[in-house]
Amino acid sequence: MITYKLGVVGLGEGRSIMSAALSSNRWELAKVCDLNPSLCEQRAEEFGFGNWTTDYGVLLSDPAIDVIAIYTPDQLHLTHITQALEAGKHVICTKPLLTSLEGSNELLEAVRKSGKRVFVGQSSRFFEPMIRQRADFEKGRHGDIQTVEAHYISDSRWFLDKPWSRQRGFSWMYNFMIHAVDLVRWYLPNVTEVTGYGIVSETSRGYALDTWDTMRLLVRDDQGRIGQISGSYTLPSLGTEVEPGIECVIRGTKGTSRAEYSNLRYHTHFAGEGRKTQSFEEMHDYYFRFEGKSHHAGEYQNYIEYFAECLDSGAVPLPDADEAVRTLALMAAIERTMKEGGKTVRIDNGLNFVM
Ligand SMILES: NC(=O)c1ccc[n+]([C@@H]2O[C@H](COP(=O)([O-])OP(=O)(O)OC[C@H]3O[C@@H](n4cnc5c(N)ncnc54)[C@H](O)[C@@H]3O)[C@@H](O)[C@H]2O)c1
Repeated sequence: MITYKLGVVGLGEGRSIMSAALSSNRWELAKVCDLNPSLCEQRAEEFGFGNWTTDYGVLLSDPAIDVIAIYTPDQLHLTHITQALEAGKHVICTKPLLTSLEGSNELLEAVRKSGKRVFVGQSSRFFEPMIRQRADFEKGRHGDIQTVEAHYISDSRWFLDKPWSRQRGFSWMYNFMIHAVDLVRWYLPNVTEVTGYGIVSETSRGYALDTWDTMRLLVRDDQGRIGQISGSYTLPSLGTEVEPGIECVIRGTKGTSRAEYSNLRYHTHFAGEGRKTQSFEEMHDYYFRFEGKSHHAGEYQNYIEYFAECLDSGAVPLPDADEAVRTLALMAAIERTMKEGGKTVRIDNGLNFVM
């Protein structure tokens, strides 16, 4: 069995992938990097892992590293990915791949030239209830899908304490709502139309942020199936018992299912079966390894094991850069409809959009 050697850059949420790699028999944590030496020391103490540097160049030039995992601020992903590819490394990049569609051609060209894999860490796909829901979808248990509804609703005003959240390139849409957009595209990959609205609240304006913090969208795919996407990030929420942060509902001719994030619950009603609720509460400590529920070590554990299998077999790990760019194209169309006050935007071949 091959063990892949991992370098990690960005040790905020990068903490979660450190935990995942140190708990895996497919990965060896080789070296980690953050500009902030005291954070490196904190992680070294926390994990008993002292091989750190504050210089990304040192990670890039280490011949022992096979894969670089990138958890730096969203605005730096393009630079950090292309540097890793040029250094001959495979890449795991956390979401969002980029902060807009801009830069995607450059990125796809760098991936093609390198011959290396870029796997995008869309963590919600790797969370227990969402994994179960996907398995039921693949078995055809929903029948013909009619709608997919994905929501990411949270009071995330705490996020505005991070200095980069108030810098150019940050948006609630690309940083947060991309989880819901990706879930809808996972089931409806060929979206052809989108319409919807966004609001910039006083809270965001108070931080001099001109970025929509409440968004409601409707999409339609090439077979007429409907997707619904919503996000709200600066408003008081009802708490995770009532609003489990991220949720994905699939409704089809033979059944309906709902996968919930914070509650670790999966509700189903399939033909020939009554209504069921499965709780994965016993996996709480696997998924939520640190304080609070905004860390994702369990999902990252699942995705690094999956990525190792893809590297073994040569399979393309999904979402890869191509798929993530298609999601960015849908995001760009979403931005367009919100800017145009809800005018329908059509998307051509999943990539180009026209009014
Ligand atoms: N569900 C998820 O998958 C999930 C959850 C949380 C965060 N994230 C993503 O992780 C990324 C980081 O978010 P965060 O909340 O940890 O932010 P953060 O600000 O807490 O951490 C980012 C770290 O990157 C370091 N850094 C910045 N520039 C660097 C450079 N050039 N070289 C080395 N280190 C550098 C900073 O010092 C900081 O410690 C974001 O892209 C975010 O979207 C993903």
